[in-house]
Amino acid sequence: EKSGYDHFMLKEIHEQPKAIIDTYRGRMLADEGIIRLSGIDDNINRFLNAERIIIVACGTSWHAGLVGEYLIEDKARIPVEVEYASEFRYRNPIITSKDVVIAISQSGETADTLAAIKLAKAKGAFVFGICNVVGSSIARETHAGAYTHAGPEIGVASTKAFTTQITLLTLIALKLASKKGEISKPQLREFMQEMQLIPKKIEALLKIEDKVKEIAAVYKNATNCLYLGRGFNFPVALEGALKLKEISYIHAEGYPAAEMKHGPIALIDENMPIFVIATSKGHYEKVVSNIQEIKSRAGKIIAIVTEGDTQVREIADHVIEIPETAEALTPLLTTIPFQLLSYHIAVMLNKNVDQPRNLAKSVTVE
Ligand code: F6R
Repeated sequence: EKSGYDHFMLKEIHEQPKAIIDTYRGRMLADEGIIRLSGIDDNINRFLNAERIIIVACGTSWHAGLVGEYLIEDKARIPVEVEYASEFRYRNPIITSKDVVIAISQSGETADTLAAIKLAKAKGAFVFGICNVVGSSIARETHAGAYTHAGPEIGVASTKAFTTQITLLTLIALKLASKKGEISKPQLREFMQEMQLIPKKIEALLKIEDKVKEIAAVYKNATNCLYLGRGFNFPVALEGALKLKEISYIHAEGYPAAEMKHGPIALIDENMPIFVIATSKGHYEKVVSNIQEIKSRAGKIIAIVTEGDTQVREIADHVIEIPETAEALTPLLTTIPFQLLSYHIAVMLNKNVDQPRNLAKSVTVE
């Protein structure tokens, strides 16, 4: 069942190139510049007339939602808010029939997300679901939706669900952008052609597993780690930290890189590994200066950079290269080394990777 892999998590990490293709197959006609998403097409006016989009989710799905916020605002120019389902439902939120709510849930059974959907519906909002499990409660409770088609995710720590949710959110952002006239046909085509290269680029990245293992061996005994990223990669920093916490029980925090100086910088010393996403587009110079600040305080830097980078290589303790791609697509690549790193640290520490303590695959209690 694990197809020769030691754990479901590792199998699911390696399934990502295929899972992403399964998510966009039949929906993204790159050469024609067409995106087909019937759940959006059938309700296009609800989306085009929306005053804002509210994304509700929990955990890793909430991190995907944050990437969705950056994508939808950047491409389609529709205001987006991202809410923890549990906070949203209990704080008497302002919701109107002009709002579109996108609920994201791998399992489709998360109690807080389901309750948030019911509340939004009661207030007249249109609710769109992004689920992996076909026929799940959330898939049934929403007005329309789209499945991620990632295949069953057995490992408790979410991996392919996350990257396929981002894939689907990218399609939604592009679809809305093209319907609103925010993106030209040639631009759309070019972006989708770039997106079609992502599965191959992930395959290439999965081949650097030995290098990630070496890094894992160096830092496996750390007690605190910091993950930093900016822009599209800020949510990836949050997700990287969550993955490490969940399966290796090492305390980790994700932060927007520029927030470091507003507090977390006080933690930095020679025992603190800091994982920084410093890809070539998206505020590169700013992240480089964050790295310099960390180095001057003796922190250890493990940087994710774009292939061919020289500047970060000179100052970082370790670098992991990702292939070049469009800035908005980088989360699909930068996520992979963090998944592998958490996995290998947890294995080296003899933790139960697929069934971490205290966690359940679907959280059906509040
Ligand atoms: C993290 C993880 C959880 C889930 C969260 C929401 O690896 O798996 O944080 O993402 O419980 O679950 P779904 O997406 O099923 O609603």
